[in-house]
Amino acid sequence: MVKSTSSFICQECGAVHPKWMGKCEACGAWNTIVEEAAREAVPKGISAGKGKKLAFSSLSDAGEEAPRIPTLVAELDRVLGGGLVEGSAILIGGDPGIGKSTLLLQAVAATAKQGFGSAYISGEESVQQIRLRAKRLGLVDAPVQLAAANSVRDILGSLDNSPAPRVAVIDSVQTLYVDSIESAPGTVTQVRASASELIRMAKRRNTCLLLVGHVTKDGQIAGPRVLEHMVDTVLYFEGERGHPFRILRAVKNRFGGTEEIGVFEMGDQGLSEVSNPSALFMAQRGEQVSGSVVFAGMEGSRPMLVEIQALVAPSFMATPRRAVVGWDTNRLAMILAVLDARCGVRFHDKEVYLNVAGGFKIGEPAADLAVAAALLSALLNRPAPQDAVFFGEIGLSGEVRPVARTDARLKEAQKLGFSRAIHAASGKEKQPDGMKHLQDMVRLFRREQELVS
Ligand code: TYD
Ligand code: MG
Repeated sequence: MVKSTSSFICQECGAVHPKWMGKCEACGAWNTIVEEAAREAVPKGISAGKGKKLAFSSLSDAGEEAPRIPTLVAELDRVLGGGLVEGSAILIGGDPGIGKSTLLLQAVAATAKQGFGSAYISGEESVQQIRLRAKRLGLVDAPVQLAAANSVRDILGSLDNSPAPRVAVIDSVQTLYVDSIESAPGTVTQVRASASELIRMAKRRNTCLLLVGHVTKDGQIAGPRVLEHMVDTVLYFEGERGHPFRILRAVKNRFGGTEEIGVFEMGDQGLSEVSNPSALFMAQRGEQVSGSVVFAGMEGSRPMLVEIQALVAPSFMATPRRAVVGWDTNRLAMILAVLDARCGVRFHDKEVYLNVAGGFKIGEPAADLAVAAALLSALLNRPAPQDAVFFGEIGLSGEVRPVARTDARLKEAQKLGFSRAIHAASGKEKQPDGMKHLQDMVRLFRREQELVS
């Protein structure tokens, strides 16, 4: 039998299949399987007794905390948990054009200006293009070592010397190739091999390595997910095209938490940090329209106010449309069902559209009450109270449950000039805006309606 010399690898999740298929059975992605030359298998002859003895040590002598290099981009430092850790590998993923190169150029210029040797190696842009960008960003005087390269051998040849740069940015990992592997740059095999060579160098030289990885939908190049397990920290840079806001999120961090986010605004001068995102998300809020409600949310340890908008329109279809941007479709279906079954408010002949303003994405169940308020406001065509924020989780029986960090949410709302907070009733004391059941919310809207008319 002829031994097969190629394997079929999903570019999305890295699963290996014996033959080509249209759909990856491991991750369910379509059209992502690519034939690649097989790598040499594990060398034969590995058996006990041949390896050298490991030097085991105890947990207690782990040493001090790893030293950090601040990037002076406060939002980035916050997400990293206090700056770049020496000898760590960080992967920054995101859609093409979202601003990864811009962010890293700004960060690396800041570390270079502080005197840490910093290199920026681009496989996508020419040195001239990067210079132009640096000029636009006002960073030309930063002593960054700049180069354009694609060969991992060349990159290692330049970085793996003493003194090695303290910070090295590689933009992007999908443009690199290891010349001993036949696959094209961007395939899973190349991306993994290139990353692992660079990470090994980073550990050896105690360099902080920042790898850029593009997220792709069509599977033509391997996504950053195939590298997530190899690096210490995985950050995703997200945002909606057409909105200037960008959000940096940690999904894995060996040196800090993953609950913090960084908020940036893309402008003519590159990315600027947004230290008070609530004010920014609230700035474009219109006056007195029905269906618009302010949700007092939390992102990590940070309270954040965002506007939730609902639109309810008559439907003539057997299954009316439900469209959601920035929130969970299943959760919307649940709230609609609870409103129907527990409060007698029907949407069965209505189309429902829900949108989180500013291109923001909400993951918290605490938004339930705000969504319900937006839906009721849109259905009854009555503006929600303009001076109030909403938050609370809704259970299947229609009960409103308190959520974590109430104090922080209230404080943020107060800071931005909201005098009322409509949330779960606590304790026995009588609160006019305390909600025990979703019916209280329906009553509130009916009452507002009476007060106005
Ligand atoms: P870029 O950092 O090249 O994205 P990525 O590396 O993630 O592919 O950013 C590209 C976009 O950012 C591009 O469409 C132009 C925009 N941009 C600005 O709006 N202002 C700026 O100062 C810069 C440098 C880029
Ligand atoms: Mg780029």
